Amino acid sequence: MSNNKTVLVTGGSSGLGAQFCRTLAANGYTVVAAARRLEQLQALCAEIEEAGGKAYPLALDVTDLGSLASAIDKAEAAVGPITCLVNNAGSSVSKKAVDMTPEDFDFVVDLNLKAPYFLCTEFARRWIANGIQGRIVNVGSVSDRKAMPGHTVYGTTKAAIARLTQQFAREWINKGICVNALAPGYIRTELNAEYFDSPAGQAVAAFMPRRRVGKPSDLDKAILYLCEPDQEFLTGQVLALDDGQCL
Ligand SMILES: NC(=O)c1ccc[n+]([C@@H]2O[C@H](COP(=O)([O-])OP(=O)(O)OC[C@H]3O[C@@H](n4cnc5c(N)ncnc54)[C@H](OP(=O)(O)O)[C@@H]3O)[C@@H](O)[C@H]2O)c1
Repeated sequence: MSNNKTVLVTGGSSGLGAQFCRTLAANGYTVVAAARRLEQLQALCAEIEEAGGKAYPLALDVTDLGSLASAIDKAEAAVGPITCLVNNAGSSVSKKAVDMTPEDFDFVVDLNLKAPYFLCTEFARRWIANGIQGRIVNVGSVSDRKAMPGHTVYGTTKAAIARLTQQFAREWINKGICVNALAPGYIRTELNAEYFDSPAGQAVAAFMPRRRVGKPSDLDKAILYLCEPDQEFLTGQVLALDDGQCL
C-alpha cells in the first residue's frame, strides 16, 4: 500500500471534476487537474493552492490517445507517481437516436468509453510494473440503468463503463488495484445547466422524488470513499448516488 496520495482527475476544468479536485486536495491528495481548457485548470489550481492544497494543471485531450502516456509522464515528473485515477471527463450529444450521425456516435463513445479504457490500462501498466496498488474511479451515470430519451449513446457508454469497471477490477484484483465507479443522478453543472433552466428541465426536476437536482458537493463523501488507498475490500462496484431520482 502506498502512502502517496496523488490523483489525476480528468475533466477537472468544470463541474463535477473541479469539485472532485477541490475535495481531494482538501483531504490530503496532490491533485493533477486535467482537461483541454488550461486557463480554467490554472485558476482552479491557484484556488486550491491558496487554500493550502497541492494541485497541478495538465492540458490534456483524453481522446488523443497517442498523447496520454507523455502527458502522464509530464505530470509525474512534476508531482511524483500518480496513485489514483478519476475518469470523469464525459459528455453527450442530445439528439433523438434516429438523428445521431456516425460522427456524433464516435464523439460520445471516444470520450466516454474509449478514453477511460486507455487511461485505465495506461495507469494499470505503470502500477503493475512499479508495485503500486492504485485506485481507479470511473464516473458513470444512473443513465446506465435508466433510459433517457435523447441520450441513447450516452446511456449506452455509461452502461459500458459499469461493465468495464467490473472487468478491470477482476483483471487486476491480484495486483492490489481497486476499480470502482460512481454513478451520479442529475447534478447541476455546465453539462446541463441550460437544460435545467428550461421549462422542460424544470418539469423533470419537479417530478423527482425530492423535486430537486443535486449539486457537485453532494458527491464529496463518495469520491473520498472510492479513492481511499486504505480501502482494499471494495472493488468492481458501481455506487449510484442519485438522491432517489431513479426510485
Ligand atoms: N452533471 C450530471 O448531472 C451528471 C450526471 C451523471 C454523470 N455525469 C458525468 O459526470 C462527468 C462530468 O460531467 P459534468 O456534469 O461535470 O460536465 P461538465 O461540467 O460539462 O464537465 C465535463 C468536463 O469534461 C472535460 N472534457 C470534455 N471533453 C474532454 C476531452 N476531450 N479531454 C479532456 N477533458 C474533456 C471538460 O473540460 P474541457 O472542456 O476543458 O476539456 C470538462 O471539465 C461526465 O462523465 C458525466 O457524464 C454527470
